[in-house]
Amino acid sequence: MKFKSIKLYEENGQRVSRMIEQTLDDLAPGDIVIQSQYAAVNYKDARAVTGVGKVLSNLPAVPGVEVAGLVVESSNPQFKLGDVVTVQGGREFGMRRDGAYSEYVRVPGSWAAHVPEDTDPFESVAMGLAAYTSALAVDELLLRGVKPEHGQILVTGGTGGSSSFAIDMLAGLGYQVVASTGKKETESEYLKSIGAAEVIGRDEIAGGDKFLEEQRWAGVIDAVGGKPLDAALRSTKQRGVVCAFGNAAGETFSTAIYPFILRAVSLVGINGNHPVPTRGAVWQRMQKGGDLRPSHIHQIAYTIAFDHLKAHCDKLIQSGVRGRAVVQF
Ligand SMILES: NC(=O)c1ccc[n+]([C@@H]2O[C@H](COP(=O)([O-])OP(=O)(O)OC[C@H]3O[C@@H](n4cnc5c(N)ncnc54)[C@H](OP(=O)(O)O)[C@@H]3O)[C@@H](O)[C@H]2O)c1
Repeated sequence: MKFKSIKLYEENGQRVSRMIEQTLDDLAPGDIVIQSQYAAVNYKDARAVTGVGKVLSNLPAVPGVEVAGLVVESSNPQFKLGDVVTVQGGREFGMRRDGAYSEYVRVPGSWAAHVPEDTDPFESVAMGLAAYTSALAVDELLLRGVKPEHGQILVTGGTGGSSSFAIDMLAGLGYQVVASTGKKETESEYLKSIGAAEVIGRDEIAGGDKFLEEQRWAGVIDAVGGKPLDAALRSTKQRGVVCAFGNAAGETFSTAIYPFILRAVSLVGINGNHPVPTRGAVWQRMQKGGDLRPSHIHQIAYTIAFDHLKAHCDKLIQSGVRGRAVVQF
C-alpha cells in the first residue's frame, strides 16, 4: 500500500519539503500504526514545512507535531485496532523524528493517548498544543491571583491559534479581554465574536516609548515576544502578571528594569510541550464541562485539505491567516 506524506529534506544548504509516496515499511519505529484523520498546523509546523528555522532535526523527516486517528496496527496491549488516539507534544514527534504530516504514522504507544469517547478527534487536535499552552497561561494568571475585577487582560497576536483560545478561555472566566492584532481592519469582528471586549493594533499596546507607560493591563498573555512584549511590560499595572510563550515577533527582546523594580510586574515563561499522557489537571479542565473548555472551537479552528498544507504554511508565515487550521486526511 502506498500513501502520501510530506517530507523535509536538506539540499545544498536549503530546507525543502515535498509531498512523496511512502509504504508502511518506510515509517519510523514504534508499536502502533495510526491512520491519520486530523493533524494540527502550529506556527512551528509552518516554520518546518517552509524550511524557515531548524524546527526539525535528523533530516529527511516528516514535519507536524500533532495528529489524531485510528489505530490500524498494534502490538501494544494499551491499544487495540479501531481505537481513536492522539499524539501531541514532547520533543521527539515532528521535531527529532517523523511527525504528523503523513496519511499513516508509526509511534511508540507511550506517546499516544485515547481520545475520550465523548470527544470528536477533530476537536482534540483543534485544541491541541495551542489551547493547552493558552490554558497553562490562563491557569498561571489564576494561580498568581489576577482576578477579573483587577482590570483588563491583554492578549497579543490575537488572531493566532493559541491567542484565539486564550481570548475565548479568559472571556469564559469573566475577564475583560483586549486583543492586539496586526489585522485590526479585517479581523476585529472575528476577535469580538470569540470573546474580545476591545481590539487594538499591534502598535497601540503602550502609549509611547517611555520606560514606564500608563498602567493598563492587570495581566498579559503574550504569543509573540519581541517589541510587543516590551510594550506590554511597560504598560502592565502594579503587581500585574505577564505570561509569555511565543516568538512570532522576535526571539529576543529588550526592556527597561522599571516594570519589575517599581511595579513588581512578574514575567512568567510558559512551556506547553508536554505529551498528552503527562498533561494532567489543566488538560482535564479543557475537556467537556471543565472551566478551561473553549466555547468557540469551531469558530477558531477549520479544516484544510492535505494537498493545501504547503500553501497554507506559506501564508501563515506571512501572518496571513487567522485561527487554527487542521489538516483533514
Ligand atoms: N512555549 C510553548 O510551549 C508554545 C506552544 C505553542 C505555541 N508557541 C508559540 O506561540 C506563538 C503562536 O503560536 P501559534 O501556533 O498560535 O501561531 P499562529 O497561529 O501563527 O499565530 C501567531 C500570531 O502572531 C501574530 N504575528 C505573526 N507575525 C508577527 C509579527 N512579525 N509581529 C507581531 N505579531 C505577529 C499574528 O497575529 P495578529 O496578526 O493577530 O497580530 C499571528 O496570527 C508562536 O511563536 C509559537 O512558536 C509556544
